This record gives sequence, C-alpha cells and structure tokens, in this order.
Amino acid sequence: MDTRTLLEWSARYHTPNYSRAPICLVRGDGVRVWDSDGREYLDFGAGIAVTSLGHCHPRVTGAIREAAATLLHVSNLYHTAPQIHLAKLLVEHSFADRVFFCNSGAEANEAAFKLARKYARERFASDRYEIIAARNSFHGRTLATVTATGQEKYRHGFEPLVPGFKHVPYNDLRAMERAIDSRTAAIVVEPIQGEGGVNVPDDDYLPGLRKLCDEAGVLLILDEVQTGVGRTGRLWAYEHAGVEPDIMTLAKALANGVPIGAMLAREEVARALTPGTHASTFGGTPFVASVALATLTTVLEERIPERAARVGRYLMERLRALQAACPAIVEVRGRGLLIGTALARPAGPVVEACREAGLLVLTAGEQVLRLAPPLIVDERDCDRALAVLERVLGGPA
Ligand SMILES: Cc1ncc(COP(=O)(O)O)c(C=O)c1O
Repeated sequence: MDTRTLLEWSARYHTPNYSRAPICLVRGDGVRVWDSDGREYLDFGAGIAVTSLGHCHPRVTGAIREAAATLLHVSNLYHTAPQIHLAKLLVEHSFADRVFFCNSGAEANEAAFKLARKYARERFASDRYEIIAARNSFHGRTLATVTATGQEKYRHGFEPLVPGFKHVPYNDLRAMERAIDSRTAAIVVEPIQGEGGVNVPDDDYLPGLRKLCDEAGVLLILDEVQTGVGRTGRLWAYEHAGVEPDIMTLAKALANGVPIGAMLAREEVARALTPGTHASTFGGTPFVASVALATLTTVLEERIPERAARVGRYLMERLRALQAACPAIVEVRGRGLLIGTALARPAGPVVEACREAGLLVLTAGEQVLRLAPPLIVDERDCDRALAVLERVLGGPA
C-alpha cells in the first residue's frame, strides 16, 4: 500500500487527537527506523523515551518470540513465574518491597493515587486524601492523572476534574511546605519534569521533599515513568538525590516498547492494597513480564545506566558547544540521555526540519527540543544528530 493512501485513511479513520508527522514507519533496528518510502531516520525520540535498548534488540525480540509461543495471558487469578521473577528483580534493585503491574504510566499513577488515599485514610484520618502535585508536571491522560498534571492545556474541556488535587510551583520547597496540611495524603513529582520542558530541580529539592514528607507523615510518590530504567544515567533518577520515595511509578522503557506499567511501594504502604482493592486484567501478563525481565536484565548486565550517563555527558557538552555558536539555543539542560534544549523560537518547526533531514526528535512544551535517544546510542550517532541540529538551528534566532 502506498504512503499517500495510508495517510489518507489515517486522516479518515482515526479519532483526530494526534498531530502526527506525515510519515508511516515500518521497520526499526537499533537507533534507526525506516518509513514506508524506504527513508532512514536516526531515532532520537525512542518512542518518547520507551525503546531504550533500541529497536528490535535481539534479547528483547528473543523474549517476545519465546513468551508468545509459551503462554500469552492467563489473568491475575493465577500465579505466573515471569511476573514473580520481574517483581523480585525490581525489588532487589530499588527501594521498594512490593510491586503492582499494570499497562501504562497513567495507570501506574492511578494505582499510586488510590494506594496513597487508602493508606492515609486507614493510617491517619478519613479526610486525609489530598495529593499535591507540581505545576508544569505531566502524569497521564486519565481523569485523575490529568487532574494531577499541572498543565491547563491537558485538562481544558474535561472538567469537572477529580477532587482532592492541588498544585504548587516545581522546585519550590517553601511553596510545598505551605501547601501541606492535615488533609495531605501524598505529594507526587517527577524527579525531572519530562513533558513540562526537561526541568531539572535543584539538588536539595528531592531531599527537601523527603524531609517535609517525613515531618508531616505524607507519602512521597515519584513518577519515574519517563526518568526510570536508566534514562538519566542511574537506574532510577531518585538515586541522584540520595533519597528514596515511598511509592514509585514506572512504564515506558520497562519492557522496551511492549506496554507495561508498574507501581512500586514500601511494605508498610503497599499493605493497604488488600485483596480485591485494585486490579488490572492485563497487568503483568506472562508475555509482558517476560519481555520486561529480558529488558531489565539487559539494562543491568550491560550497565546501560552508566552508558547513558557517559554518552549523555558527551551529547550535552557538544550541545553546549553548539549553543555558543548558535543564538537559537537558549539553554541546554537534563541528565543522562534526557536532554532539553531550550530555544528562542517554537520547537515544532525545528522538529519538522530535523525529520526532513533524517533525525527524529521531540518537543517538551512550546520552545524546548527534547532528545531522548535509545540508551545504546554511541558518540558517532550523537555526532550525526548534532550535525543535523547544527544545520537546522544554524540560522539567526
Ligand atoms: C512522567 C510521566 N508520567 C506519566 C506519563 C503517562 O504515561 P502513559 O502515556 O504510559 O500513560 C508520562 C508520559 O509521557 C510521563 O512522562
């Protein structure tokens, strides 16, 4: 089928909620993808920070083949070994004692909010249910997670929203301190705001939040849906801050592209999810758990976070050098291979121009270009991406 017909049918048959680029991707290998006209692209978006081991990684593809030929789905009415092994591996390599599996980042956050409310109600008081989130945050598109999301554009038109959420500026400990009261069950933040512009907080922010939470008996939920599984140069972004959350949510990179979400929690908190209180039909099927197990094992064995830290440093240094010569770049920020380049102009047309030049990149807000390549990229891939960026951004601001 020719590309023009495919794009026509896409326009005719899909709900119109996505502004997709006018290409149809058909194949991927490592850090490259190809479209239906045979054009090759360097993929520095990785399916929005998902395919961290690159496209069609042999260990992931092997696990997919084997799991599909063994046992796809049986429901959570029964135990399955891959889900048990995955939970054990996550617990052994994080702060957490227990894991709940679901299918997406939004669902993981929903589970976190439900758990926080239930725990706070049972432990403290029946009117202790509020969750404080940050402005500019992104936590998902379901009603509760879009309510937690601190950006009006995602909520507009969907009111009435879910009661019990409020927002304070990100990276502002005093505002958080003022907002916490006897109704506060939890606060939820991203260790680095991804969609909101790749905003890296000050070093004392997460430790400060931890302290505020401990003093007030409030749960600290870290949304690591985008930052988790090595993206920032540590397995979990909270490791940079030297503090641990009570609850953490994951999705995106956990199964390298096969849909999965996970909520991890400390023992005392997790205990509130008694039998029957929460569930997901597809959560942690033997299929997805096998793929996540292969992904996480590869990330750990091949020291992917260290690699992301090293290549990320290289890419950020080179971008800063480019900034010195290019007035269109206002700031380069980020950690590991989650990098934001703040521009003096809208980022959308820059993304388009990069794509036309064979480089896929993302935006993060109106004027920030986001680079989130597979964590297996090397310096040569970065040089190629930088050459495109230099050509596209080279002109006057
Ligand atoms: C920090 C964060 N939380 C939650 C989500 C929502 O994840 P999903 O699209 O899998 O529901 C995203 C998606 O971009 C995210 O970046």
